[in-house]
Amino acid sequence: MRYKVPFVNYPLQYKNLKKEIDTTITRALSRGDLILRSDVEKFEKNTASFLGVKYAVGVNSCTDSLIFSLRAAGIGKGDEVITVAHTFVATIEAIIHCGARPILVDVGDDYNMDMDKLKAVITNKTKAIIPVHFNGRVCDMKKLMTIAKKHNLILIEDAAQALGAKFDGKKAGSFGLSSCFSFYPAKLLGALGDAGIVCTNNKILAKKIRLLRDHGRETKNKLVCYGFTSRLDNLQAAVLNVKFKYLPSWIKRRRKLAAIYHQGLSNINKIFLPPPPQSKGRFFDVYQNYVIKARKRDKLALFLKEKSIETIISNPIPIHHQKSLKLSHFNLPNTEQFAKEVISLPLIPELNESQIKYVIKSIHTFYG
Ligand SMILES: Cc1ncc(COP(=O)(O)O)c(C=O)c1O
Repeated sequence: MRYKVPFVNYPLQYKNLKKEIDTTITRALSRGDLILRSDVEKFEKNTASFLGVKYAVGVNSCTDSLIFSLRAAGIGKGDEVITVAHTFVATIEAIIHCGARPILVDVGDDYNMDMDKLKAVITNKTKAIIPVHFNGRVCDMKKLMTIAKKHNLILIEDAAQALGAKFDGKKAGSFGLSSCFSFYPAKLLGALGDAGIVCTNNKILAKKIRLLRDHGRETKNKLVCYGFTSRLDNLQAAVLNVKFKYLPSWIKRRRKLAAIYHQGLSNINKIFLPPPPQSKGRFFDVYQNYVIKARKRDKLALFLKEKSIETIISNPIPIHHQKSLKLSHFNLPNTEQFAKEVISLPLIPELNESQIKYVIKSIHTFYG
């Protein structure tokens, strides 16, 4: 189905950048630059300097970036790692794949970890916390870092949705021992397939992750540990380098569209909006998703579909209520409530203002 207002539009983004993308792919292919070549190195440098951190290691996804961060930090069997259920499942999956135990805390109204509930779940087995900067808004890192420091806990940021977002002027991904980003095609900066990166200021951690992503090979013939096939693909890195130049303008555009939504929707009392973009305050949000809480959410989604507007409902079943995952002992009232209410409206930079206004008008029509 072709929507009047699509949630993502990969063909249009490609059309806009076709010349540059085709040129860079042709160049890499002509040189045979396929595995761990200069494009990966350049992308790692670009990302590290964008965030203001010392090291960046390209891997094949944010999921692996999380797994490798935990492993490299020495987390494993018997350890507890605190995170949220209001996330993409990968955050929790990573903890499980390291043999550790996920401890889930509830989120606040901003959909991020509720720092006031965090202290209650810290035990003597807690080794790390994974804050998730959800929807492009950074968690309250001041509160979190104070707690982490007091209890001597490792912080690994899941910044998959927050490239470019800031808290107190500091970028998401520059607070923790390491941070993990996704370049899944629908992300703020999207590859042509899967891609991810780990960022850190810790030289030893960066070195361990370089080994983990490439079979533990220190040099061609020297193996120093068991690793994985999880290198950032060189062609993906080449395309990401092209797109990186546009990231600031895409963020600006997302913020502008979010401001239009805010202005157009704030007088409907049946919905709850995210905060509008601030130019001064503590939070610089990048709106990876524009998520609202809506009364009669499922009916609204159907209505918008009939109007040819594509929306997304993430986690309609909260992750901890997915029976097979065996996490149902957690009691997370906000997470459970939000699963019934949240809906993401389209906000890609490729949308024009009249498309956003059409969404606004349709939501007004729905609520009468
Ligand atoms: C919050 C969060 N964490 C982790 C991931 C996993 O990213 P990837 O698909 O690159 O493994 C995603 C992807 O959607 C995400 O949104």
